[in-house]
Amino acid sequence: MAPVDAESAPPKLSHPSTCIYPGTFDPLTYGHLDVLRRVARLFDRVVLAVANNRRKGPLFDAGERLRLVQENLGGFANVEAVRFDGLLVDFARRHQAAAIVRGLRALTDFEYEFQMALMNRHLEGGIETIFVMTKDTFSYTSSTMIKQIASLGGEISDFVPPNVAAALKAKLAAAPRET
Ligand code: COA
Repeated sequence: MAPVDAESAPPKLSHPSTCIYPGTFDPLTYGHLDVLRRVARLFDRVVLAVANNRRKGPLFDAGERLRLVQENLGGFANVEAVRFDGLLVDFARRHQAAAIVRGLRALTDFEYEFQMALMNRHLEGGIETIFVMTKDTFSYTSSTMIKQIASLGGEISDFVPPNVAAALKAKLAAAPRET
């Protein structure tokens, strides 16, 4: 076996079992919670990072998205949720994370995720991206689709927790828009 090149070996981490689970979470879905439940078993500490991501034109502002997530963390002793702006790798480094976790739903996610993982590795070689398969029931959902169904009066309770369903209803009643 070839010897490890000491110069290219990633730096040692002081908290090797911290991971970051980033996303826009506009809004949080049961699919996200499914991924979170899986990774919370694998890592000592999970930091769920709610990206501001204004360029995506979110329906909920970052503070609202964070609150909707935090209200669903009751059963997770080792998960904290925070907002973040800027580069994901900088955020991960500040939290001394060993890994970035992303959920994979279908093959169509792969190309985008692959590109993002390789770019993040280029920016910070010491942080791995780990992919977790979403439960098949959620593999065809997305926040956009759920917002669209809600805006057209459809039933979304199979896909989002009650607080998210209520917030969507209130938001869409105050400012109806088709997403
Ligand atoms: N179940 C259901 N849906 C899921 C899901 C799951 N398990 N996992 C992801 N999704 C959906 C989301 O709802 C979202 O749907 P939408 O596009 O309809 O809103 C979609 O998959 C992807 O969203 P998300 O996981 O939130 O990723 P993103 O592409 O919006 O944001 C960031 C990804 C925040 C990680 C990325 O933009 C980022 O790193 N930003 C920081 C800037 C940076 O560092 N850039 C360089 C990175 S290369």
